Parts: sequence; C-alpha cells; structure tokens
Amino acid sequence: MASESSDKKDIWSADAYRTTVAPFVAALTSKVVGWLDPQPQDEILDVGCGEGVLTARLAPHVTRIVGVDGSPNMIESFNKTFPDIDARVVDCRYLDKDASLCQASFSKVFSNAALHWILRDEATRANAIKGCYDALKPGGLFVSESGGLGNVAEVHAAIIGSLVHRGIPVDVARNASPWWFPSLEAMKALVEGQGFRWIKGEIELRQTVLTDHQGGGIEGWVRLFGADFLALLPSDDEREAAVKEVVEILEGVGRRQHDGAFTVNYIRLRFVAQKD
Ligand SMILES: C[S@@+](CC[C@H](N)C(=O)[O-])C[C@H]1O[C@@H](n2cnc3c(N)ncnc32)[C@H](O)[C@@H]1O
Repeated sequence: MASESSDKKDIWSADAYRTTVAPFVAALTSKVVGWLDPQPQDEILDVGCGEGVLTARLAPHVTRIVGVDGSPNMIESFNKTFPDIDARVVDCRYLDKDASLCQASFSKVFSNAALHWILRDEATRANAIKGCYDALKPGGLFVSESGGLGNVAEVHAAIIGSLVHRGIPVDVARNASPWWFPSLEAMKALVEGQGFRWIKGEIELRQTVLTDHQGGGIEGWVRLFGADFLALLPSDDEREAAVKEVVEILEGVGRRQHDGAFTVNYIRLRFVAQKD
C-alpha cells in the first residue's frame, strides 16, 4: 500500500454504501461493463473497487481480477465477503508508486464510480493515470465510468449553500468538495497526457432513482457522500441541521411527479483508452 493514504479519514461504510444508500452504483453498470467486454484470458485491475460486488460479478468471466481501494473499511468488507478474490488497500492517487501492481501485467484496468474521487487532487491526478498505464501490458485497455461535469450538481450546490448559510466562506466550502467532475475533453487530455490512445468516450445524463430505505434516500446520500463537506461544521447538531436543510432544498427539485420517487441527476463520463 502506498503510505501517503493515511492523511485522509475513511468516510466509507460498506454497509451504508451497499445496502441503504447506493446499491445502484454497482448495479447500473451494463454500459461500462459492455465496454470492458471481459474475456476468459483477461487479467483485470479494478481501481476503486469498493466492497467488491461488481468485482465479484466480473471474476467468474476472467483469468484474474485484483481489486484495489483506498478505504480500509471497504477492503475489510470485500475480504470478508469475497475471500477468494485478491483485494488490497491502495491509495490510487499514488498508484504509480506501487511496484507490485505497476508491472505491465494486466490486460485491462477497470474503474467504476471511483475516478472522480481518486482524481480530485490536481497534484496527484497524473500519478493515478500513470499508475493505470504502468499496470497494463502493451495494447491493454483502460475502461472507466465516473462522474462527469455537472454530476449531481443540484446536491453539490445545495450542500455548499447550506455550509455558506452556516458561516463557512464559499471558497472553503467549495474546496471541501471531494470530487473532480471533468468535461470529456479534460479527461481525454489527462489520459492522453500519460501516454494512452483515446479510443472512445461519452457523457450521459442518468436520472437515478435513490433508494427509499429509511437510512438511505437523499438524506443517506448526503451523509455518506457529503461527509467531507459536513466535516467543516463544528458539531453534530450543526451537521444534522445542514443535512435537513439540504434535503428540504432538494425536495423542490428531485421528486418525480408521477410516482413520488426521488431522483438525482447523475452525469456519467465513460471512456476506453489503450496503451500502445
Ligand atoms: C462509489 S464507490 C465505487 C465502488 C465500486 N467501484 C462500485 O462500482 O461499486 C467509490 C470508491 O472509490 C474509492 N476511493 C476513493 N478515493 C480513493 C483513492 N484515493 N484510492 C483508491 N480508492 C479510492 C472509495 O473508497 C470507494 O470505495
């Protein structure tokens, strides 16, 4: 594991992620898995694999799959649930420093719903992509889906607004965002900058129905995925009030009229790139 990972609090809870808040993340993947096109001879590195539900779905179809994730909580859950799959804690911001993975031994690098977290810091963005490049055999494919420009914009804006309302300066609130949601052009430039050949890419609006689980829905979403923002507030009471305010604001924009389901505007950015 790259040692630089210890400066971040582990906000991930495998239970909340898988069961109550976001089971749809691993479920709504048919397009990107189609682009990955797993083959029996494939050896795949799954970057930001989480608690392994998607990795385990791919495993029976390939020769080898290795999951890497920065969250010890997620990997602990992964190892308990899928003990036969190799899964390790790796902070992929520094993937290029991991000599055990960067040996040009994988035929494909796959990443679902993770690059917008991993690429958040500009200073380490290129390292992460270089790591994906170095992990691949010549001719290997890098296939990813993550948040693109404008992803979950209404939730993002409501959280920042609620922090500003509680006295946090707007630039501080903005900078607490744990995500980088690039345009397709920005992602292409980043990936090509590390030597990949861009094969195809697209941006898609995916209006996503959230769970109606008691601890999930938009409230659970804000608590889990917005944890880095909420950490700016000084007390649990303030955090609680901010979550309630965000939910109140979003009530006016996210609820579907015909069936009352709550939706968030996910914008997905997918691409396939190749190591020549
Ligand atoms: C939304 S989850 C996606 C998990 C899985 N790929 C899936 O499709 O269900 C995002 C994952 O990115 C991981 N992640 C965030 N920052 C990371 C980093 N710097 N290095 C490695 N993984 C990271 C998180 O721990 C989390 O498990």
